Amino acid sequence: MKSSSSAYNLPLFHDPLDNGAEEQETPKPKRTSPLNDLDLNRWREYDDITTDSLWLIPERDRSGAHLADYHGNFVPQIPYQAMRRFTKRGDLILDAFLGSGTSLIECRRLGRHGIGIELKPELAQQADDRIASQSNPYNVKTIVLTGDSSNTVSTPRVITHAVEEIGKEQVQLVFLHPPYHSIIKFSDQPEDLSNCPSVESFIQKFGQVVDVVTPFLETGRFLVLVIGDMYAASEWIPLGFHCMQEVIGRGFSLKSIVVKDMQGNRAKRNLENIWRYRALAGGFYIFKHEYVMFFRKGIRNGRTAI
Ligand SMILES: C[S@@+](CC[C@H](N)C(=O)[O-])C[C@H]1O[C@@H](n2cnc3c(N)ncnc32)[C@H](O)[C@@H]1O
Repeated sequence: MKSSSSAYNLPLFHDPLDNGAEEQETPKPKRTSPLNDLDLNRWREYDDITTDSLWLIPERDRSGAHLADYHGNFVPQIPYQAMRRFTKRGDLILDAFLGSGTSLIECRRLGRHGIGIELKPELAQQADDRIASQSNPYNVKTIVLTGDSSNTVSTPRVITHAVEEIGKEQVQLVFLHPPYHSIIKFSDQPEDLSNCPSVESFIQKFGQVVDVVTPFLETGRFLVLVIGDMYAASEWIPLGFHCMQEVIGRGFSLKSIVVKDMQGNRAKRNLENIWRYRALAGGFYIFKHEYVMFFRKGIRNGRTAI
C-alpha cells in the first residue's frame, strides 16, 4: 500500500476520472460497477487503491482533521481504501463504533455522507467537533449519535431518523471497529463491549450490534470489520474469527480477510524487550497484526457480478 505522503495528502478526493478523459483519442465507454466510481477501462491509473491482502502501512495519515490522539483508533487509510472501492460519491456510511470520528472525517474528504454511533458522550462531542473542522467540499452530511450500538430496541429508531434526515432509505457501507474485548478498556459503562465479562458475552453483544446495523445496509453492499485477536490465560483467542462467524451467520458472504500490520502499538511501545522475553519464555508470538474483513450482504457464490 502506498504511504500517506503520496496517496492521502491530496487536498480533495483524487478521482482519476475527473481529468484526462478527453486526452484519449477514442474514449471507451466507461466500465463502471454498482459499488464504486472506478472506471475499469482505466484500472492501471488507480495506484492509490490496494488490491493485496497484506496491508503494511508505514505511517498513519495525519493530514486534515485526523489526529492520532485516541488510543484505539484506526488509521484513516482503512476507511479510505474501503470507501474508494465499495462506495460511490453521495453514498451513506454507517459506523457503529465511531470513536474519534476517523471514518466520518474521511467521509467528508471523499464526498460520502456518514452516520456514526459512539457510546461515550464526551468522545462523541469531540468527534463531532473534529469532523466539523474538516473541510466539506462535497457538502455531505455527517451525523454523530451518542448511544449503545448493541441496543436492539432504541438504536434502530435513532438510526432510522438519522438515515431519513440525510435523505436516504438505506446505507451503502457499514464499518465495525469494536473494542478487541478487554484489550483496551474504553469506559466504565456496562454497555461498553470492552467491559463484557467473558469472551462469549463479548461475541454475543457483538452479534447484537450486527443485528442492529445490518438491516440498514443495502443488499449487495459491504460490511467492513476491523478487529484483532487477544491473548488470555496463556491461549490465543481468535476474536477476529469468532466475530467473522457472527457476520457470516447472518447471511453475509466473506469477500476478503486483509491482514494489516500493527506497528507502533502504543500498549507495546517501549516494552519491546519485555514482550520479547515473555514471548520466548511463554511460547507465543507477539501480536503485530489485525484484520480488516470484508463481507457482502446477501450475495453468495459470486452470483451477482461486481
Ligand atoms: C476500537 S474503538 C473505535 C475507534 C475508531 N475507529 C476511531 O478511529 O477512533 C471502539 C469504540 O467503540 C466504543 N464503544 C464500545 N462499546 C460501544 C457500544 N456498545 N456502542 C457504541 N460504541 C461503543 C468505544 O467507546 C470506543 O470508542
